[in-house]
Amino acid sequence: MSEKLQVAVLGGTGMVGQRFISILNNHPWFEVKTIAASPRSAGQTYEEAVGSRWKMDGPIPESVKNIVVKDVTDVKAVSEDVDFVLSAVNMSKDEIKAIEEEYAKTETPVVSNNSAHRWTPDVPMIIPEINPEHMDVIEFQKKRLGTNAGFIAVKPNCSIQSYTPALTAWKEFEPYEMVATTYQAISGAGKNFEEWPEMVGNVIPFIGGEEEKSEKEPLRIWGKVENGVIVPSNDMKITCQCIRIPVLYGHTAAAFVKFRKNPTKEQLVEKLVNFSGLPQKLELPSAPKQFIQYMEEENRPQVTLDVNYENGMGVSIGRLREDTIYDWKFVGLSHNTLRGAAGGAVECAELLKASGYINKK
Ligand SMILES: NC(=O)c1ccc[n+]([C@@H]2O[C@H](COP(=O)([O-])OP(=O)(O)OC[C@H]3O[C@@H](n4cnc5c(N)ncnc54)[C@H](OP(=O)(O)O)[C@@H]3O)[C@@H](O)[C@H]2O)c1
Repeated sequence: MSEKLQVAVLGGTGMVGQRFISILNNHPWFEVKTIAASPRSAGQTYEEAVGSRWKMDGPIPESVKNIVVKDVTDVKAVSEDVDFVLSAVNMSKDEIKAIEEEYAKTETPVVSNNSAHRWTPDVPMIIPEINPEHMDVIEFQKKRLGTNAGFIAVKPNCSIQSYTPALTAWKEFEPYEMVATTYQAISGAGKNFEEWPEMVGNVIPFIGGEEEKSEKEPLRIWGKVENGVIVPSNDMKITCQCIRIPVLYGHTAAAFVKFRKNPTKEQLVEKLVNFSGLPQKLELPSAPKQFIQYMEEENRPQVTLDVNYENGMGVSIGRLREDTIYDWKFVGLSHNTLRGAAGGAVECAELLKASGYINKK
């Protein structure tokens, strides 16, 4: 029996699920034991079920090719042999909410990429470098669910990762207002150019639900744990426009910020490059050594050159300059399916394991 924690990937055939499978190939702590998807895929081997939909650069890992895919709704069969689940299913919000609670109630921790539980008051929404202390609500959540080991933790939306780390690094200068436009890759919709040819050479000025998430989720990330729930911060106002652009991986944000204690450029850069969190201290397997890089060149960060910085787990900031209306403006870039989705969730699971919340069953 392997010493590694055994994982089930819910939605393993989808875009984020495939990322989970790739990242977990040869992971030092975790091993994919079970893969679940819709009834369309259930009963087929993973290789058959994914077929030509495999979108990752390398081939399907040998270790998972012959795993027979289960049905996500068969909670007992999926959860029985695993220590925790990683979730990235495309069902309705209500269905996801219910099924993730069902998994937690089988004493199987759930680390989710889905948005369904991001505003459940006792579910922590974690960027491990920024708010690991939100894990404290898990004990209260377990009481509500009536579990000993089962709980749900989530990671936030992909769009916020290109500016929230910078704003966090600048907290002592008290940023209080930000206007941003995000330029988001098509993989954020689970698609590539073969599946979405209309996006070639195109820009679409709408991504359903994304602007609200981009404006509100950072406030929950900066929230405080009070009486067993997360109380969102009200220190800052954020307004966003989210635009789909013809890029495969990488969300870029162009942001304008006002500060109560207006810093110098040197101070801002110093805070970015010295920002480090618990994952770096614990040396979690997926943690970037340098979480935020600052790029002085006026044409960086660029998607093609910089999206894979720190294996797609780091954030690149550039074009920091004074603004005529706001105080400072900058451009941020992060990888939407690594830092912004599967990578962020795996790092969150590593943090939960290192902190004693996920264990062998
Ligand atoms: N792509 C991103 O960058 C990103 C970022 C953040 C969050 N998310 C969120 O992550 C989730 C997955 O996104 P994705 O882009 O990976 O989607 P996707 O490529 O469409 O994959 C969806 C997965 O869900 C399964 N599924 C669909 N309908 C189902 C049903 N009725 N019952 C059980 N399983 C079902 C699919 O199985 P079959 O293959 O059998 O159909 C597939 O495994 C979504 O909630 C999305 O909003 C995505």
